[in-house]
Amino acid sequence: MNREIALTVNKNAVTTSVEPRLHLADFLRGELGLTGTHLGCEQGVCGACTVIVDGKPMRSCIMPAVACDGADVVTIEGLDNDEVAGSLREAFSAHHGLQCGFCTPGMLIASRDLILRQGDCEEARIREELSGNLCRCTGYMGIVAAVKAASAGRKPQAASQEAGAQQVATASAAAAMAAPSKAAVATAQTVSGTDGWTELTQRVKVAADAETTWRFLHDIPRVARCLPGAEMTSFDGGSITGRMVVKFGPIKASFGGEGTLVFDEAKRSSILRGAGRDTGSGSQASGEVIYTLLPDAAGACEIDIRLRYRITGMLAQFSRGALIRDLVGRLTEAFAQNLAAAVTGHESASAPREISAGELLWAVLIRRIRALFGRPCT
Ligand code: FES
Ligand code: FES
Repeated sequence: MNREIALTVNKNAVTTSVEPRLHLADFLRGELGLTGTHLGCEQGVCGACTVIVDGKPMRSCIMPAVACDGADVVTIEGLDNDEVAGSLREAFSAHHGLQCGFCTPGMLIASRDLILRQGDCEEARIREELSGNLCRCTGYMGIVAAVKAASAGRKPQAASQEAGAQQVATASAAAAMAAPSKAAVATAQTVSGTDGWTELTQRVKVAADAETTWRFLHDIPRVARCLPGAEMTSFDGGSITGRMVVKFGPIKASFGGEGTLVFDEAKRSSILRGAGRDTGSGSQASGEVIYTLLPDAAGACEIDIRLRYRITGMLAQFSRGALIRDLVGRLTEAFAQNLAAAVTGHESASAPREISAGELLWAVLIRRIRALFGRPCT
């Protein structure tokens, strides 16, 4: 059954009725005629369909249009007068960063986001950040040179222009679908370390006082239920064993492991440290999550969530690209949203038991990324 949605696309208000299965890319191209958004793989792999949703680059081929109800969407057509996008267009032309141009809208949007966040960028960072955008003809040398030239001398901006216009970025499609309430607003920043560790920070507003929220954080089975794909098998007050299932299309990674949980009552902070192994791929994950409760002046509070993780083994290939970070980011966003809802008694029976990176076809992903690693970027 069709659903009514109202959103902003390139600063124009759009109200329409869409099928729940229609993805954003088809909506933009087919309904609004914005054909600058290209469709390549339609599986969330190539990045050709990247658009900006609430200030964040998103793959519109795996984002349902209905999840964009109330969102602010910017396509490549909406960046005609954008200063950073303008510099990038000139640099792509000067450095031969495009040939057929099929990947170019997605490359420009991803590069612009990188420049806004990082300012002047090193080549290694550009290659890392753009590794989720595939080009099948030009090769990457010209693209990387163009982004480096366009970023030269720039300072990071606190938030992208779209995000600044709307205050704070809202959750991703997965989180939006998982979230029963929009009362909580989460923000996230992800930083990749050079030693294989990735750090991600998340802050979520909770419409409950600090005492109620702190008590809830001690209810470990309920907290665990907020994490899509998590299943706790035992908890003795300090040690936890459990399983975490992450689904990538038809293949599941199922990490079984154990951890320890320590509460610091004085600081209203807790640390969960753990490690697990996926027997299917032989991959290992280790990490820690630190929660800190921050009361606010209005009698409510925020939970500051700091996640630090490292993945080794087959899945580690993806930590090079933006894909695994994007997935972990969505996972923690969904967790934060579910947590905020659960504290106020709005636990969702529909919260997903596992998170899926859309309809990613694992075999395609592996083949493309191996091809990318197996040949020098020319
Ligand atoms: S078409 Fe969306 S990621 Fe390839
Ligand atoms: S320029 Fe043709 S796919 Fe990138």
